[in-house]
Amino acid sequence: MDNITILGIESSCDETAASVVRNGREVLSNIISSQIDIHTLYGGVVPEIASRKHMERIDRVVDAALKEANTSIEDVDAVAVTYGPGLVGALLVGVSYAKSYAWALNKPLVGVHHIEGHICANYIENKELKPPFMCLVVSGGHTHLVMVTDYGRYEVLGRTRDDAAGEAFDKVARVIGLGYPGGPKIDKVSCEGNPAAIDFPRAKIADNEYDFSFSGLKSAVLNYLNSLQMKGESYIQADVAASFQQAVVDVLVGHSMDAVTRYNVKDFAIAGGVASNSHLREAMQAACKERDINFYMPSPIFCTDNAAMIAVAGYYEYMAGSLASWNLNAVPALKLGEK
Ligand code: KG4
Ligand code: ZN
Repeated sequence: MDNITILGIESSCDETAASVVRNGREVLSNIISSQIDIHTLYGGVVPEIASRKHMERIDRVVDAALKEANTSIEDVDAVAVTYGPGLVGALLVGVSYAKSYAWALNKPLVGVHHIEGHICANYIENKELKPPFMCLVVSGGHTHLVMVTDYGRYEVLGRTRDDAAGEAFDKVARVIGLGYPGGPKIDKVSCEGNPAAIDFPRAKIADNEYDFSFSGLKSAVLNYLNSLQMKGESYIQADVAASFQQAVVDVLVGHSMDAVTRYNVKDFAIAGGVASNSHLREAMQAACKERDINFYMPSPIFCTDNAAMIAVAGYYEYMAGSLASWNLNAVPALKLGEK
């Protein structure tokens, strides 16, 4: 089959996004309407507001994606949409829109797992990348170390037991007065701080060395701030940010490299919003180089939520004949590998 065109739709959190992708790897358009400004007022994503904003914007976002791609609706071979995991109300907007769109135009519908989308973002700029490879997915809601055994086939080696990496960034940013969204702000402020200033803990999980835990680290930051406050002393924001970030980066790199060695992997990728962190990108690249492992990472715009990654994942599902029925529903706690 030549020239398969997929329209991707993403609305699982606070970005309303649509994209047109050809043959799984060529992004013709990538429209992202972010709600960050609105949610910043509340210090985090307010689910009810997110759903309403998706409803207001989705129609224009999809139109803009088709227009920018210079593609007519007739040229679209299938509509791919994120159906989980995520905020149920937010997901429902994308799912309902995609279903009615595909139904009205008599096009096949593909349901995409959001984490699968993040992983597939790596295919966009790395045309040579093919399974099998290992991928660390680090986002606001997920921290997964995954073996990609084939297109659409995933084996989860490790996951977080509590907070996701991005969640930890956001929470720590809030307590040190950086506000929302925390990840990019900690990334920036850390450049002026000393990553060795404070020795925050690096958690290890006894019964699965590839699992993660970030809640102890978050508490350690809080305890550090409280103890200084009780003594009437002030803290250096950039040092706290840099030391916290270093602890997260050390754990992510450490677990990943242990797994890469153990499974004798030659290709390793990172994905998800936290994968746009400049310190993590540098540290992972260096660690892979040292071990002679090919390292892949999407450009930052394809790390944070977007619909191009959903269209790419949708393409591989479509090619495998994995189509959704008209009963497709939003599944807020969808597990990777579940259909
Ligand atoms: O993948 P994503 O856009 O949405 C989810 O699927 O959750 O990830 C959002 C998360 C947020 O927690 C945000 O703070 C974090 O990614 N993030 C970062 C950076 N940019 C975004 N974390 C650290 N450094 C960054 N530069
Ligand atoms: Zn995401």
